Amino acid sequence: MEEAFMQRTVTCGALRASDEGKTVILNGWVHSDRNHGAIHFINLRDRYGQTQVVVDDDASPELQKKAQELKLEYCIAVKGKVRRRPDSMINGDMATGEIEIKAEDIQILSQCATLPFMIEDENNAREDLRLKYRFLDLRCKGMQDRIRLRHEVVRSIREYFYKTDFYEIETPTLIRSTPEGARDFLVPSRIYPGKFFALPQSPQLYKQILMVSGFDKYFQIARCYRDEDPRGDRQLEFTQLDVEMSFVKRDDVLALMEDLFGYVFKDVMDIELPHTFRRLTYHEAMNTYGCDKPDLRYGLEIHDAAPFAKVSTFGLFQDTLNNNGFIKYLVAPKTEGKDFTRKYITELEDAAKIYGAKGLCWMKVDGETLNGGVSKYFAGNEKVVLEETGAKSGDMILMVALDNWKKCCNSMDAIRRKLASDLNLIQPGFAFCWIIDFPLFEYNEDEGHWEAAHHMFSMPQVEYLDTLESDPGSVKGDLYDLVLNGYELASGSIRIHDIELQKRIFRICNIPDDVAQQKFGFLLDAFKFSPPPHGGIAPGVDRLCMILAGQSSIKEVIAFPKGTAASSPMDNSPNWVEDKQLEELGLLIDEKKRTTK
Ligand code: AMO
Repeated sequence: MEEAFMQRTVTCGALRASDEGKTVILNGWVHSDRNHGAIHFINLRDRYGQTQVVVDDDASPELQKKAQELKLEYCIAVKGKVRRRPDSMINGDMATGEIEIKAEDIQILSQCATLPFMIEDENNAREDLRLKYRFLDLRCKGMQDRIRLRHEVVRSIREYFYKTDFYEIETPTLIRSTPEGARDFLVPSRIYPGKFFALPQSPQLYKQILMVSGFDKYFQIARCYRDEDPRGDRQLEFTQLDVEMSFVKRDDVLALMEDLFGYVFKDVMDIELPHTFRRLTYHEAMNTYGCDKPDLRYGLEIHDAAPFAKVSTFGLFQDTLNNNGFIKYLVAPKTEGKDFTRKYITELEDAAKIYGAKGLCWMKVDGETLNGGVSKYFAGNEKVVLEETGAKSGDMILMVALDNWKKCCNSMDAIRRKLASDLNLIQPGFAFCWIIDFPLFEYNEDEGHWEAAHHMFSMPQVEYLDTLESDPGSVKGDLYDLVLNGYELASGSIRIHDIELQKRIFRICNIPDDVAQQKFGFLLDAFKFSPPPHGGIAPGVDRLCMILAGQSSIKEVIAFPKGTAASSPMDNSPNWVEDKQLEELGLLIDEKKRTTK
């Protein structure tokens, strides 16, 4: 018969000097096991911490033997007496470092197979190995800390919304497929062979319908699914804090988020955030930082080079200006230990070319003169350049000239980001900002029609209501993004609540009335029944936790993420299913398309 297990009376992080003399039982994993002659030192670990256990040389032969049997990561129970460590042995790095347990009994609760990697503070094993053995990877302190952080963040978010009178309402995860931007994951129906559910890309339509139903303050920690290629800040399934409110205007939603993040950062991280976040219009953000998710932890602002480019004799600059194109520049500051070599300039140029730049123009400031690159075209006009740019000796002026405004901005963004990281210009901390006044529509060159820049349920700003159809490109939406440290943390908008306006938007996005009725009929039907004005937002929980944890991949804050190959090495999903399952669903796999991976 199996012996009854010695159940813990304390955790491995609990004991202090004041507990001296107590007899306790600990349960946990053997984190380290050192043998000093006949004395064994075992560090026992659980999620609360570590405690040192000592099997003294005067221990009974049975206990000595048990100690010999222990291996790393065995799950054990230890009974013993708490004693103070000698002063010279106190470990200030461990919360329990003042004490140790003099073992009286050890029980092996379960053994551990050969480890694929060591359980260290941070696991440096290959990603596929980390994900295959995620149960072990999650034992590492870094992952334990991050999962705890995520738990704290979600707890704090919920607390905030409960205190402020929001209802937490779940919405279905088997829904009808509705175009929302990304590709849907489909779930075949057994009862209706040939028909499919979709997994929600977000609870967007359901939260709007909840507004029609009168639940004017709603939130949900919602799982969302998008069939896209995973990357650093993207997963196939991820979590949003989904929020919607009735009878609100844009500034109410922004203020709520500022208050929420102020609460969560103080509560979880003891960090005071400013009461309001800086607001930039989409055009300001693009012109000054080159993108709509600027990292404001550093400057390196982008400016219009036209005022000095126009005095140059450089054909490219003249042509660009004559064609109403764009020339943008930034000043890379002289930095100790960093030379702007030709090789480095080529690296910057390569970064910019990815976003459409045809080349990178540069010149170096040397005292009152300009050297290298395109400086020769400014001969005699150096003063104009220096006054206009404010560049100092040793600085570098970097310019991109393009006919396309967006590509010009994005190319400068690539340069700005690379410089900030290479020149160590990124200040620690958290820089939030709002991006507002986004264009409502984007032109889809491939399909030859306009489409919604965010989603089709966002309200155009009222001054554009008459020109929606005649000039979609200039329409601004009541849209907002929250940006944190260069990541898009949240997106939201004030919604349309008028059927006719909603139909006009569908039509501009190439969705005729009959198709709209077919795909979004349930929303349009709901809108016949006195919908309130409403709006909302959805911050990404994974991204928030990733940034708080100082990581650059959301996988580091998700217990069981998918790997870069969009699959899970631990459970080997996706995977084949039984023929019988396919038959029940009326599905046949096209042999030509069957994966060999
Ligand atoms: P959007 O599609 O911009 O808006 O998503 C909102 C936020 O969700 C996070 N996010 C992701 N996180 C991880 N992996 C992904 N694949 C992923 N996609 C998005 C981001 C993003 O800012 N229904 C609207 C919101 C609204 O209008 O209320 C929506 O889903 O942090």
